[in-house]
Amino acid sequence: MATHTHHHHPFLLRLLPFLTLLLLSAADDSAVMSTLLSSLSPAPSGWSRSTPFCNWTNVNCDSTSTYVTAINLNSAAVSGSLPPELNQLSQLKTLAVQKNSLSGTLPSFENMTSLEQIYLDENDFTTIPNNFLLGLTNLVTFSISENINLGPWQIPAYLTESTNLVTFYASNASITGVIPDIFVSFPNLQNLRLSYNNLTGSLPGSFSGSEIQNLWLNNQRQGLSGRIDVLANMTQLSQVWLHANSFSGGIPDLSRCTNLFDLQLRDNRFTGVVPPSLMTLPKLANVTLQNNKLQGPFPDFPSRIQVTIGTTNSFCLDTPGPCDPQVSTLLDVAGALGYPMSLAESWQGNNACNDWRLINCDSQGRNVTVVNMGRQGFSGSISPAFANLTSLRNLVLNDNNLTGVIPKMKVMVVEELVGREQVRAIPMEGHLDRRGSGSVAMIAGVVVAVSVFIGVVLFVSYKCYDKRRHKRSGRVEGSELGKEPAKPNGTNGVNGYAGVPSELQSQSSGDHSEMHVFEGGNVTISIQVLRQVTNNFGEENILGRGGFGVVYKGELHDGTKIAVKRMESGVMGTKGLNEFQAEIAVLTKVRHRHLVALLGYCINGNERLLVYEYMPQGTLGQHLFEWEEHCCQPLTWKQRVTIALDVARGVEYLHSLAQQSFIHRDLKPTNILLSDDMRAKVADFGLVKNAPDGKYSVETRLAGTFGYLAPEYAATGRVTTKVDVYAFGVVLMEIITGRKALDETMPDERSHLVTWFRRVLINKDNLRKSIDPTLDPDDETYESICKVAELAGHCTAREPFQRPDMGHAVNVLGPLVEQWKPSKPEEEDAYGIDLHMSLPQALQRWQADEGTSRMFDDLSFSHTQSSIPSKPSGFADTFSSMDCR
Ligand SMILES: Nc1ncnc2c1ncn2[C@@H]1O[C@H](COP(=O)(O)OP(=O)(O)O)[C@@H](O)[C@H]1O
Ligand SMILES: *[C@@H]1O[C@H](CO)[C@@H](O)[C@H](O)[C@H]1NC(C)=O
Ligand SMILES: *[C@@H]1O[C@H](CO)[C@@H](O)[C@H](O)[C@H]1NC(C)=O
Ligand SMILES: *[C@@H]1O[C@H](CO)[C@@H](O)[C@H](O)[C@H]1NC(C)=O
Ligand SMILES: *[C@@H]1O[C@H](CO)[C@@H](O)[C@H](O)[C@H]1NC(C)=O
Ligand SMILES: *[C@@H]1O[C@H](CO)[C@@H](O)[C@H](O)[C@H]1NC(C)=O
Ligand SMILES: *[C@@H]1O[C@H](CO)[C@@H](O)[C@H](O)[C@H]1NC(C)=O
Ligand SMILES: *[C@@H]1O[C@H](CO)[C@@H](O)[C@H](O)[C@H]1NC(C)=O
Ligand SMILES: *[C@@H]1O[C@H](CO)[C@@H](O)[C@H](O)[C@H]1NC(C)=O
Repeated sequence: MATHTHHHHPFLLRLLPFLTLLLLSAADDSAVMSTLLSSLSPAPSGWSRSTPFCNWTNVNCDSTSTYVTAINLNSAAVSGSLPPELNQLSQLKTLAVQKNSLSGTLPSFENMTSLEQIYLDENDFTTIPNNFLLGLTNLVTFSISENINLGPWQIPAYLTESTNLVTFYASNASITGVIPDIFVSFPNLQNLRLSYNNLTGSLPGSFSGSEIQNLWLNNQRQGLSGRIDVLANMTQLSQVWLHANSFSGGIPDLSRCTNLFDLQLRDNRFTGVVPPSLMTLPKLANVTLQNNKLQGPFPDFPSRIQVTIGTTNSFCLDTPGPCDPQVSTLLDVAGALGYPMSLAESWQGNNACNDWRLINCDSQGRNVTVVNMGRQGFSGSISPAFANLTSLRNLVLNDNNLTGVIPKMKVMVVEELVGREQVRAIPMEGHLDRRGSGSVAMIAGVVVAVSVFIGVVLFVSYKCYDKRRHKRSGRVEGSELGKEPAKPNGTNGVNGYAGVPSELQSQSSGDHSEMHVFEGGNVTISIQVLRQVTNNFGEENILGRGGFGVVYKGELHDGTKIAVKRMESGVMGTKGLNEFQAEIAVLTKVRHRHLVALLGYCINGNERLLVYEYMPQGTLGQHLFEWEEHCCQPLTWKQRVTIALDVARGVEYLHSLAQQSFIHRDLKPTNILLSDDMRAKVADFGLVKNAPDGKYSVETRLAGTFGYLAPEYAATGRVTTKVDVYAFGVVLMEIITGRKALDETMPDERSHLVTWFRRVLINKDNLRKSIDPTLDPDDETYESICKVAELAGHCTAREPFQRPDMGHAVNVLGPLVEQWKPSKPEEEDAYGIDLHMSLPQALQRWQADEGTSRMFDDLSFSHTQSSIPSKPSGFADTFSSMDCR
């Protein structure tokens, strides 16, 4: 047994050198190179199994001819693939297989610590294995550009291990995701080319201070975005291609980039003033700026620089030279906000009074009087340049994210703070002086609001007026009630109140309700009745919520439906009862079948309730903008144009009363209510203003809704009927486009409907694209839409005198509605008019009182116009020539 063991030893010892040799030969690279050779077709020239691999053309080995150090198959006209075994080439420093037709999955290079150069570009590789560049601590150059069949991949964050990286080329290589913020790890990186991928997000902050010279990020499919300020810190840059992306904000000051010779910025969303330092960069030779929204003076590059500027930027002039001082000031203001795109798109040209967004001017259109930047989502700081707007009366900055102080200004009207907006007012001038601060109001950080006008909707009025008859079929129009003599509390006249539901009539007072009867006769309704009919103001009865309270649906015992608007206490503000009564007295005079009727009111302690006729189909706004949520059909064009005519008639009536003219001041789709047959009535007379004939009245505070405010009204507070015409024009635009007057969800350049749509109107070809997609008009419909579009443009003319009056709108819309029912005479009961009412009597009385036959026309449903307003003489809008055929 012992001898047996003894015999084994010498044998193994003799075998050892042989085994070592075997192991060594397995460790050389011949097997891998052989696999590589068989993976390629045709065999690369100079490669043959009959010669040692170290003798193959363009294959380098180490000094022992054991290990491959370099493989160079650049442009070798080979196809096939690279075998995964390639990662066993432990000494490989260079793999160059570019410009072939290699395909399939790439080998993983993981842990090939010797690898310094990898050239894979211009092949057809399809797949990248996980971690394929992990652990390449000596990688200097990696190039995978122009592999268009690659599946999507991302720049791996583990690349940070490759701290020697100098060149990373991966253009047109299906890269997605963001550029990872890993560039502090590459102190030697000089060349980064990532063009023609689908990179998104912004430039990584770690670009700052990098040594990158050659930066190609152009033509990302979806577009890189955000600001490019970091370029200012990349002082080694020589060639920068950022074109065809979605970069935004201003061009930074690149004066430290003294080697920059090529700067491609075209086709982005850059805004702001081109920094003058760019024009003096010593080596700059090539610049493109076109198709951005750059602002300020037209850039003046020296002739040695080849520059393309294009025509779609927003420079104030189209030749070099300073901008108008007011324009310069506003550019400073915009600059402090980081040059928002919304302003860059609208603030074009050299006249700040030429329809600039958020800007209003005096009536001569010269000096800026209002800067209204409330709720714009701006961030940045408040520019001291505001102080240079010497005619500024209103500055609205509420609900943004701004820092800084408001500079002292010479002229400043601080508007009363009322209404729906939760804002803080920072009083200017006088108040400041009293505090002794003298020069500035301090605002720490955030929301600043000076001078608020909108939203005010003082709702002054608790317009309750009395009633109009309610028959089974619904509501009726009448006008006789306005002249009814006062009635004792709780009793109702035989004539005028015949149609008031008895339930309402019989209730006169309640525990907490005060009773008021005004001249003109009004119905007070007890809170008990209102509680009863609304199921104690049950949630399930809520019709909607407005700025001043909740509106409930109610049903009287006889089935008549009503809408009860319940004002939260405190809403009334300081408005006294007398004013309230006076307004009710006025409102009782405006009755029309296209005006929503007030049936009565209730005062219950601090609470005030208004009872309206119920409009079963809700608001025009719901049907235009939320029809999907309400699971109804989108409105047809026929319905829309009919609604437009109804509204025009209602407003025309308001405007054209013989003695006085009433101005609605808050016309908008949420104030247009619809009946079951989709006929419209104008509602919400809370802001109705009684305007002396032919005169205008100047309001101390504005009221209304942004998006619908006529420019002269916002700027000067001057109210004429043309304010309603303007708002009506905006409503027409909404009807045509299905888009809201102000739509925060749209890109900035489209968010303000009037600005955008008036631009659309300049070229009729654009109109079709802007039409509400649910309309899909045939030729006849399109012609009708086109005419309404033209009217909308006309109504929103900048100058009030250029706008038509409502009679003109009725004249334009009337035939368009007629077109849909050529022969059938209008059915009277379509309006829910109860023909058994004492209407003729009422009309007689009305005519005697008001002496207007217009009224009669309306109530007798005649389509004849009693007055045919001609086009205003000053009308010189582009739109008048629009060809609608
Ligand atoms: N007469 C009515 N018939 C049916 N619904 C109504 C009536 N009045 C108001 N509503 C509904 O209640 C909502 C709020 O009304 P309102 O207080 O007038 O709003 P706002 O304050 O915005 O003018 C409306 O958007 C509408 O949906
Ligand atoms: C391979 O190359 C070496 C050195 O260049 C040379 O000595 C040897 O003869 C070559 N072998 C063959 C088979 O060509
Ligand atoms: C690469 O090296 C790391 C660390 O040594 C190791 O964890 C990993 O498994 C290696 N990967 C491969 C594919 O060898
Ligand atoms: C580009 O990337 C975005 C976001 O990563 C993606 O939604 C989009 O589908 C990609 N587009 C293409 C063409 O790959
Ligand atoms: C530029 O560098 C400075 C100094 O390092 C730094 O404070 C600043 O934030 C950098 N700017 C950008 C845009 O990266
Ligand atoms: C400028 O760009 C054009 C077009 O890309 C190119 O032909 C030209 O060589 C460039 N000039 C310089 C100096 O880079
Ligand atoms: C407009 O501004 C100029 C210069 O600031 C001033 O001279 C002029 O009086 C202003 N005009 C009006 C109407 O305020
Ligand atoms: C106001 O305008 C003057 C003259 O145009 C200019 O010198 C000054 O810097 C401006 N002030 C501010 C705060 O921009
Ligand atoms: C406001 O701006 C500050 C600093 O610019 C930022 O940190 C903050 O998130 C912003 N807040 C909002 C609500 O946008």
